[in-house]
Amino acid sequence: MAYYSDELIDEVISQNDIVEVVSEYVTLKKSGRNYTGLCPFHREKTPSFIVSMDKQIFKCFGCSEGGNVISFIMKLEKLDFWESVLFLANRAHVDTSKYEIKTSFSNNKEEVKKDLKEVLYKLNKDAALYYHEALVEKLEEKTNLVKDYIIKRKFDKNVIRKFGVGFGRGTIPLFDYLKNKGYSSEEIFASGIIIEKAGSLKHYDRFDSRLIFPIFDIRDRVIGFGGRVLDNSLPKYVNSPENEIYSKGKNLYALNFAKKENLESIIMVEGYMDALSLHKNNINNVVASLGTALTESQARLLKRFTDKIIIAYDQDSAGQEAILRGLDILTDKSLNVKVLKLDKEDAKDPDEYINKYGVERFQHCVNNSISLVEFKVSKLEKELDLNNIDSKIKFLTQTANILSKIENNIERDIYIDKISEKYKIGRGPILKEIEKRLNKNDSKNEVIDTSLLNKKIHIGSSVRKRQEQYIIALLLSKDLKIQKQIFESISVQEIEDESVKDLYNTIIGISKNFDINKIDILSRLRSEEQIKELTEVMYLDISNVDKVKMLNDILSNKKKEKFRLRRDEIIQRIGQNITKDEEEVLQFELNQIILELSKLK
Ligand code: UTP
Ligand code: MN
Repeated sequence: MAYYSDELIDEVISQNDIVEVVSEYVTLKKSGRNYTGLCPFHREKTPSFIVSMDKQIFKCFGCSEGGNVISFIMKLEKLDFWESVLFLANRAHVDTSKYEIKTSFSNNKEEVKKDLKEVLYKLNKDAALYYHEALVEKLEEKTNLVKDYIIKRKFDKNVIRKFGVGFGRGTIPLFDYLKNKGYSSEEIFASGIIIEKAGSLKHYDRFDSRLIFPIFDIRDRVIGFGGRVLDNSLPKYVNSPENEIYSKGKNLYALNFAKKENLESIIMVEGYMDALSLHKNNINNVVASLGTALTESQARLLKRFTDKIIIAYDQDSAGQEAILRGLDILTDKSLNVKVLKLDKEDAKDPDEYINKYGVERFQHCVNNSISLVEFKVSKLEKELDLNNIDSKIKFLTQTANILSKIENNIERDIYIDKISEKYKIGRGPILKEIEKRLNKNDSKNEVIDTSLLNKKIHIGSSVRKRQEQYIIALLLSKDLKIQKQIFESISVQEIEDESVKDLYNTIIGISKNFDINKIDILSRLRSEEQIKELTEVMYLDISNVDKVKMLNDILSNKKKEKFRLRRDEIIQRIGQNITKDEEEVLQFELNQIILELSKLK
């Protein structure tokens, strides 16, 4: 792919009116200065989705999605940022070649890096073809170990082709093959598929004689490989090293195939073999985490395609522990997570299960997958012997811990019922235990509240957030004087709301490279949270306010707030057991603060 200058972004935005673009997907009704419709990103019966013609943004007040025309296309067409820019450029017949960055003569380091990336994508693709070809040749022979293994693991032709499965040794050496294709030794070593032996001219193939699984990104590019041995030797798998294009924590195996489905849910498995087995049986909404701990960026990636994840990890304890570790990451991104339990002890993973018991029975397990709470409780059950009284008490105690964390009362009640029935424990005692914990939490909150009481009297956190959002709104109001004053007088640390702070910090960074009055800031943001936050800010109307006065009010409020907090801290401290010296110092500071505060009023 070519690279484009940022000016293309602004051109695309000005050539694609958001109301027109959104109208192609959503029926919009004019309502005052805005347009409203049913949100395409969540199910709703009454419209809470608003498009602003003036501001060229959209916002859903139901699900809080928001952004500009590019963010809209990203979400709706499930494209990444530059894909969406090109999609819109194409829609409006923008001549993109004018914005193309020519890379070949550039000395710029960043450009050289981008170039290497392009080479590595191509090189990996060529290597994938080499491996695949090598496997096909093996399969055409009458008999050999590779073919035996493929038969033993029940691979079929279609899945081999679809996943580009290969074998790590062809008729000519891989190094020579790649050299013949014109790659330099440096490029070949940078890919990690051939390893240079330190201090000698020798090198060896990382995936030599292994069964090869190319790893694709969501745009179907080969970014790396995994290679399995054909016997029981170790290590069972080797994988491409992290490099310019491969980062294992940012990718999910087979998502490029899964995303082509209508995704009500995604089944997540651990291994290559599991993913292949399910796809082979036409269960295509499957991705594999490749045996590593889930990362936040993988969770975000999943969230782009679905809201519901079914985890189908290995049944051994390592797999079960991995589920627990991944859960919080997924639920933090408000994904609805279920856990699949294989109902047979003698099948350790989905691949084995399907081969032994068939796909229908597996589908049955999918339909019976359990919620997180049930998973945690059944894990406890396995760890404790419920025939032993002490263990059963422990079980009840810990179950109550789990249940007391469910916030929704109705949901909690349903679980109490289920658990009371399943484990033959009365509803009463479970309820009592939970109540004990809930009350404890409440009183804990109270303790915190009293210590924060003074803070609370001054300004509520939502009021403060609003005030800080106005700072951003003022910053973007194209008033140079105001901008200067904000940048000079408000440091990032002084913004207290985490989300606004993050946004402010990013805008400061952008302002170093761009004139923020001339570009579309929304398009320079890459984090979804920041986009949402900024969209919210853009809906604050400051067109008719006295901006200078507003900023001064906010600044003086912030100052007062700071002084008051410090004042209360000092008063509290003085009331405690402290030395005379310290008291004197604090008393002096207190007098200063009171003086300042009186000036500010
Ligand atoms: P598994 O051992 O469950 O592999 O590891 P598998 O895919 O089910 O393979 P079979 O059925 O035993 O042949 C799960 C995943 O963990 C990664 C691989 O991505 C594997 O698919 N892994 C495992 C490694 O990276 N290295 C290893 O040595 C083992
Ligand atoms: Mn397996």
